[in-house]
Amino acid sequence: AVIDPALVEAGEKVFRKCAACHEIGEGARNKSGPQLNGVVGRVMGSVEDFKYSKGFVAAHDQGRTWDEVSITEYLAKPRDFMKGTKMAFAGLKKEADMAAILAYLQAASE
Ligand code: HEM
Repeated sequence: AVIDPALVEAGEKVFRKCAACHEIGEGARNKSGPQLNGVVGRVMGSVEDFKYSKGFVAAHDQGRTWDEVSITEYLAKPRDFMKGTKMAFAGLKKEADMAAILAYLQAASE
């Protein structure tokens, strides 16, 4: 599917809320959060050398994957989606921000 470039650009700005903890793009490394390259379609909890919370270790073992629905739910209310998650992030409240970040993460997943 074609991703709206304007939305991707908006998402790059929204990613500033994530960048304290996450890197994405060429050469991205883990920080306090895992690198996010290819996260759309990726198995949950699958970045090498990153120590995930128990819930994501279990999700990984169950083969659960990140898609637009699960990412939206997690980013809206991280602790509701995954009990005990280590991601100390209040959540994305604005619908426009959510659409933009999804486009941005998707673009980095192709
Ligand atoms: C995990 C996205 C903000 C820290 C994750 C995962 C995603 C994600 C998709 C799951 C990755 C995987 O399964 O490999 C985002 C986005 C953010 C954001 C898009 C901004 C909108 C933050 C912030 C922090 C943070 C601000 C730090 C204060 C973490 C940590 C994990 C994580 C520690 C691992 C969670 C666990 O093991 O329970 N994030 N994140 N994230 N993120 Fe974020």
